[in-house]
Amino acid sequence: MKKIAIFASGSGSNFQAIIDAIHEKKLEADVSLLVCDKPGARVVERAEQSETETFAFNPKEYETKTAFETEILKQLKERNIEFIVLAGYMRLIGSTLLSEYEGRIVNIHPSLLPAFPGKDAVGQALDAKAEVTGVTVHYVDSGMDTGPIIAQKTVEIKKEDTRETLQERIQQVEHQLFPSVLEQLFNQEKVGGVSF
Ligand code: GRF
Repeated sequence: MKKIAIFASGSGSNFQAIIDAIHEKKLEADVSLLVCDKPGARVVERAEQSETETFAFNPKEYETKTAFETEILKQLKERNIEFIVLAGYMRLIGSTLLSEYEGRIVNIHPSLLPAFPGKDAVGQALDAKAEVTGVTVHYVDSGMDTGPIIAQKTVEIKKEDTRETLQERIQQVEHQLFPSVLEQLFNQEKVGGVSF
């Protein structure tokens, strides 16, 4: 079974969706570690509840990104982690982790990339008066939400949508799409051409 680490900074609803999918046997994977750069984040509680080991760190206690990524890499190697899943990890992945894991790191982003990359993708879509937005799962490279796209799903924007209502519908889609894409990635060799 694939040993994976989930990286997250916030509420961790996608972390939870992955854990739940494993319990429901919709996804075969072993979440061996949560990596969190915000020690007080809600996702840390979720990890405790699901008895997932956590490496939580404060980036300000390290001089450079290389320094904290070197520590993360040590944590990953100690547990033989094969794959990294970014689920609301609010940092770019640097060369220390990319050189070991590129091609084995995926991210979920709340827009139809390449539209609305970066922070506040939901707000960007509303400000642009877009009629549709969505969710993208993609491989991670050194850019901001720029790696090769694996799967996308659209979400219609309604006239009456607020940031909260739109975000909620997007997250519902994320919680279905992410575990299902991971299942395909881990348990079939190729995802190309498969629609989710
Ligand atoms: C998600 O919307 C994800 O697409 C984005 O960050 C958010 C994380 O939410 N990258 P949560 O912490 O999983 O609830």
